[in-house]
Amino acid sequence: MAFPKAELHLHIEGTLEPELAFALAARNGVTLPYADTEALREAYRFDDLQSFLDLYYALMAVLRTADDFTELADAYLARAAAQGVRHAEIFFDPQAHTVRGVPIGTVVEGLGAALDRAEERYGISTRLIMCFLRDESAESALDTLRAAGPYLDRITGVGLDSAEVGHPPAKFREVYEEAARLGLRRVAHAGEEGPAEYIREALDVLGVERIDHGLRCVEDPELVERLARERVPLTLCPLSNVRLRTIDTLKDHPLREMLAAGLMATVNSDDPSYFGGYVGDNFDAVRDTLSLTPDQLRTLARNSFLASFLDDDEPRRER
Ligand code: HPA
Ligand code: ZN
Repeated sequence: MAFPKAELHLHIEGTLEPELAFALAARNGVTLPYADTEALREAYRFDDLQSFLDLYYALMAVLRTADDFTELADAYLARAAAQGVRHAEIFFDPQAHTVRGVPIGTVVEGLGAALDRAEERYGISTRLIMCFLRDESAESALDTLRAAGPYLDRITGVGLDSAEVGHPPAKFREVYEEAARLGLRRVAHAGEEGPAEYIREALDVLGVERIDHGLRCVEDPELVERLARERVPLTLCPLSNVRLRTIDTLKDHPLREMLAAGLMATVNSDDPSYFGGYVGDNFDAVRDTLSLTPDQLRTLARNSFLASFLDDDEPRRER
């Protein structure tokens, strides 16, 4: 569906299509352990979040220069524009690049070159959100925040991603406090594979303004009531949940119940190259499978703008 929408949960590294991966591999002299794009696509069968993350991090080996990141972001923006995206808040994983010897400045400047022309070329306004890898240490996250210092004019906020279970939000209390002092907006993945309690912790300990995924809140009626009352946006990613087997089939997605409960749900693509669709495809899938009404689709699209950081100056949640 191509009606206007904002995308708020999108990992730029998760937009790396097999064709671009092979083109960058050839350019950078990187050998991929797959015969061709078909063989690579065949590997996109995941049992859980970790099995996806293993491939997602491995393929990043092809991203080396600022131009590579510019090309990656341009390819995403072109696809997003075709599916009605007018505003995109884009995650990136600096630690996944610095660990390979690619400096954060290369990543930010490369992505920034594409984002700078996104309004003019694609009619898309953008924000950049740097995510900390929660399976790395809090010290590493703090070092990453410090390394981002010279680029903070290009970075709107911080997020938290990677392997969730066993890495509760509270582990990152200090780095989120520092991010807040620096005037950065705060979000975090919570309740994707991890328990509902992580959602509470992300709100209460990290002070986040949005929850990425948040799917497992439905297991905790009191939490659902709170999220609805406080209008905390949830950036849901339906096709991602199916591919990572968080739910068995799309029919099992609780989106209708979440909307009925007054939750501020949004629909997003997460890692569209890996999960079978960009954000418009996610909208199509939930519309068809869950029989959403035009009114519900409008609510989801409206929520995506209301939950965005387009109002850069004021944090949305009163705390
Ligand atoms: N969850 C956690 N970490 C991630 C994801 C996700 O869906 N995508 C990229 N990093
Ligand atoms: Zn995600």
